[in-house]
Amino acid sequence: MLTDNHNRVINYLRLSVTDNCNMRCQYCMPAEGIEFSHNKELLSWDEMFLLASTFIELGITKIRITGGEPFVRKGLMDFLHRLAAVKGLEEISITTNATLIGEHIAALKALGILNINVSMDSLDKDRFNAITRRNYFDVVYNNVLQLLQNGFNVKINCVVMNGLNTDDILPFIEFAHEQNVSVRFLEEMPFNGHSKSFEKIEWDFLKIMDHIQQHFPGTHRMNDGPSSTSENYTIENRRGSFGIIPSFSRTFCGTCNRIRVSAKGELQTCLYTNESVSFKKLLQQNPHPDLIKPFILKAIHNRFKDGFEAEEKNEFKKSMSLIGG
Ligand code: GTP
Ligand code: 5AD
Ligand code: SF4
Repeated sequence: MLTDNHNRVINYLRLSVTDNCNMRCQYCMPAEGIEFSHNKELLSWDEMFLLASTFIELGITKIRITGGEPFVRKGLMDFLHRLAAVKGLEEISITTNATLIGEHIAALKALGILNINVSMDSLDKDRFNAITRRNYFDVVYNNVLQLLQNGFNVKINCVVMNGLNTDDILPFIEFAHEQNVSVRFLEEMPFNGHSKSFEKIEWDFLKIMDHIQQHFPGTHRMNDGPSSTSENYTIENRRGSFGIIPSFSRTFCGTCNRIRVSAKGELQTCLYTNESVSFKKLLQQNPHPDLIKPFILKAIHNRFKDGFEAEEKNEFKKSMSLIGG
């Protein structure tokens, strides 16, 4: 079992497989995009597999695949096949924008990869396309319905942005009921590749909750998992559920069980830090788990108490596409 210097069990790895993306969401990057990595800078699939297997040997039981958009990188499905066969790994889940997942639905199901979180920030086509700066609304909407029809456990992630999509909150509550699905509202974080900066947010979890309760008074708190980022609720006489993720207010750091590896092989022990340990060279020089383990353990034994402490030493805010969320 992996335990950090604050006595938190670390069993969850967020593994970014690419920083590239086929969308340009406003909260994630500027319109012109960011400087995406060249392929040779990324961990190869073999390097990534070795690194992931090493984490599993150390006690990681859940891996969430993130990006950028994971499905833009060729070879993802082969990698998932290999990963799914590793003993000790109990769960693989994916966070995606759902533009490219359609053709992989049957294969994912066969692999038992059923937990899919989909970034979808509006149910209004024009607004969705304006936020993402691309025209994929119909594709994403249809793929979400396909996933649901095929029995996937889908969670919709909606980043709430003042003046952009707050009119979507109530329609998403309707959508949760109609489709019997979980919709989560995320506080916006300032990881957008310098396109805008802010020190506080208007729509924090309290305001989002208040807004929902004014229209739907019968909310009941669900029993969230021990390290859940979201506070989840059902509404009386309605199907589905909704959740709020205080990603900016950071109220859940005390039970944080997660670490991150970027597509370039940088281990980051908190979403809010810029510090990282790079594994790319190490993996090229001597790709052996025993050589890597001490570096992983050292990083895990030097974690920040919370996202506020991590942020203190930060000078700039990079794009979420590089961090993987
Ligand atoms: P599961 O618990 O595996 O379902 O993951 P999740 O809901 O945390 O994952 P997802 O990729 O859907 O991320 C949802 C939101 O939570 C994103 O905005 C993430 O950036 C945010 N988030 C995830 N982990 C952390 C974290 O450690 N700290 C903060 N502040 N936000 C996080
Ligand atoms: N603030 C909050 N959430 C964000 N995400 C991406 N960028 C931001 C941001 N700046 C979310 C996406 C994705 C998840 C991994 O992170 O909605 O679903
Ligand atoms: Fe792409 Fe995700 Fe960033 Fe949107 S949030 S631009 S889907 S990486």
